[in-house]
Amino acid sequence: MKFFLDTADLAEIEEAASWGVLAGVTTNPTLYARIGGKLADFPRHIERICELVDGPVSAESVAMTRDEIVRDGRELAQIAPNVVVKIPTMVEGLAATRTLAQEGIPVNMTLCFSVPQAIMAARAGARYISPFVGRFDDISEDGLAQLEQVVQAVGNYDFSENTVGGQRVEIIAASVRSAHHVAQAALMGADIATVPFATLKKCVQHPLTDRGLDAFLKDWEKVQKA
Ligand code: G3P
Repeated sequence: MKFFLDTADLAEIEEAASWGVLAGVTTNPTLYARIGGKLADFPRHIERICELVDGPVSAESVAMTRDEIVRDGRELAQIAPNVVVKIPTMVEGLAATRTLAQEGIPVNMTLCFSVPQAIMAARAGARYISPFVGRFDDISEDGLAQLEQVVQAVGNYDFSENTVGGQRVEIIAASVRSAHHVAQAALMGADIATVPFATLKKCVQHPLTDRGLDAFLKDWEKVQKA
């Protein structure tokens, strides 16, 4: 499983990239608003993220009609070669995804909450599909079980003839809120987990690692004094 960072914060992206595990970034309008982003600065901001990351960077269209989404997608794709156009899973989004995929522009279909939505996204030519985990948990449903069903259903078929360059469609576990979500996503075979920075940090931490390290350091002090 690959790690993407789910953020628009350049400092977080720079830091995570330095760890050597970062394979991509996903942004959304909420994440851009959270860093105080302004509309006019958006293309330049995405460009800066693309410079920091050696991998796909999802930038979302907020348009509601297929023509507007396609127009947004073409503009976003001009920003950098590693831009992926993020489009909500809805009828107009499917139609726009089909057009963009035929033009060789990769799409990440987002706000995916069901197996039929995921299958339709793949059939339309999405390069990535983003089933949300945490938002199911928010409404007291099992987000991991939903993710597992999407991974299994999409894995049953070969959608490569629909995608840009005939590449296999990849599942991005999104709305990930904990290291437990990350572990379960990996166990069920999700291709990618897109993770907030704080959660990514928790993924590398373990109390037994801390305790073991503490013991090693104390024992090494003894060795130095012996
Ligand atoms: O990028 C989409 C997704 O990861 C959002 O997560 O925590 O807002 O549900 P969240």
